[in-house]
Amino acid sequence: MARKAEPPVPAEMLPRHVAIIMDGNGRWAKKRGLPRSAGHVQGGLIFRKILRYAREIGIEYISFYAFSTENWNRPDDEVHGLMNLMRKYLKDIYGFFDERVRFILLGDRGGFEQDISDMFTDVEAKTGSFEKMTAGIAANYGSRREITHAVQEIAALVRDGKVDPADITEEMIGQHLYTREMPDVDLLIRPGGEQRISNFLLWQSAYAEFYFCDTLWPDFNPKEFDKAIIEYAKRTRRFGAV
Ligand code: FPP
Repeated sequence: MARKAEPPVPAEMLPRHVAIIMDGNGRWAKKRGLPRSAGHVQGGLIFRKILRYAREIGIEYISFYAFSTENWNRPDDEVHGLMNLMRKYLKDIYGFFDERVRFILLGDRGGFEQDISDMFTDVEAKTGSFEKMTAGIAANYGSRREITHAVQEIAALVRDGKVDPADITEEMIGQHLYTREMPDVDLLIRPGGEQRISNFLLWQSAYAEFYFCDTLWPDFNPKEFDKAIIEYAKRTRRFGAV
């Protein structure tokens, strides 16, 4: 049996929820004179590697930004390639049920072709009771759209007389987000050299620690992940208190 990886810090210092913006696939490919799609293929392999590694070291929740609501504006062939990668990784999930990772789609499933949206629903149902780690796949995801959707749902409850506006709480809003079954983000990692949040988990990252690095996502690896965790463990989180 493969040796289980040890976390780089004591288990009680690990972040509970790590969110990752997988950035830099296109630049990685360009540097090698390859089409952007080659960067996404390599990025997909790293996604799989980091997913497995995070589970091995005991991360409870992890979220990956796979496809934003704005990514539909990319050239057709790139979008097509990303959709095919999504199909491939969704299919692969059936091959590693023994890893007992629960998958949740964070995003609007209405935007996908029917087979992809069906696969998301099926994978969520079949992995729903898995307890080793929960992985959120943000696809057709945008934080502002997610919050807008939550507001629409709550407004409908107010309209129907089921909720008094004075009773709307932060917890209630959280319960109408795609992440309703996940805790807030503790650590947000963005490789690829940019230092921005790009409409990813805005509400959920209110108190997150941010870790940026220049490594392009297709070059990211467990060592880099460890570096982010070690940096996280060094920071003191005060949640607005002193
Ligand atoms: C950003 O790099 C990356 C994406 C828009 C796609 C991320 C998708 C994957 C890593 C592949 C598959 C994963 C799943 C879960 C299906 P970019 O293209 O913006 O890179 P650039 O900034 O260098 O142009």
